[in-house]
Amino acid sequence: MNPDLVLQVIRHRRTIKPDQFSREKVPRGVINDILASANWAPTYENTEPWRFVVFEGHAKCELARIRAALQEKRNESDADADAATMLQIRLEEAGQCSHIIALGMKRHVEVPEITEIMGTGCAIQNMLLTAASHGVGVKWSFGGRRYSDELRSFLGLAPNDGLFGFLLIGYPRNEWPEGKRHAPISDKVQWHGDE
Ligand SMILES: Cc1cc2nc3c(=O)[nH]c(=O)nc-3n(C[C@H](O)[C@H](O)[C@H](O)COP(=O)(O)O)c2cc1C
Repeated sequence: MNPDLVLQVIRHRRTIKPDQFSREKVPRGVINDILASANWAPTYENTEPWRFVVFEGHAKCELARIRAALQEKRNESDADADAATMLQIRLEEAGQCSHIIALGMKRHVEVPEITEIMGTGCAIQNMLLTAASHGVGVKWSFGGRRYSDELRSFLGLAPNDGLFGFLLIGYPRNEWPEGKRHAPISDKVQWHGDE
């Protein structure tokens, strides 16, 4: 094991937005590495709740259409304008990405939901780190939404399953961005006891 290398990858990981992606396709092998890393996340009671749906090629546009149409249903006040704009935004995003991965969580009622959410979060972080180690850019797009049951159903999820957004994936066309944090870790940690 090389602890410096692990820390290097963790610090290197950055959010990169689809408008910064080149149009180069990420090979299937790399996407499979990203997915495989998710499966090694820790889980409470070994429920392994993470579920993913990968969209590539024309399927990204199908997802864009479905998401825009469902958004239309929820916004009845100015449905037409909204739906048209959303469709345009989603299709543009789909065109910029090499792959889009939906982030699901199959709920096991015998364990607390929070433990499954935390386990799935760990799985997603594994994916982000693996992508970064391959030089692949990712934006985790969530936006604080409660997604519709129709979208869950399209993704093979039940109404009480989790849907934590989408990973928008592609190679960055510019230099890998620098990271920044508002406060150092020492501001967020308390130590008790002596060495
Ligand atoms: C649960 C979660 C949801 C996120 N959702 C969004 C989002 O909807 N849109 C976005 O631009 N970034 C989103 N991000 C990315 C954060 O904005 C980003 O991680 C933060 O700005 C720090 O930048 P870094 O990832 O480059 O370190 C999300 C991150 C997490 C962990």
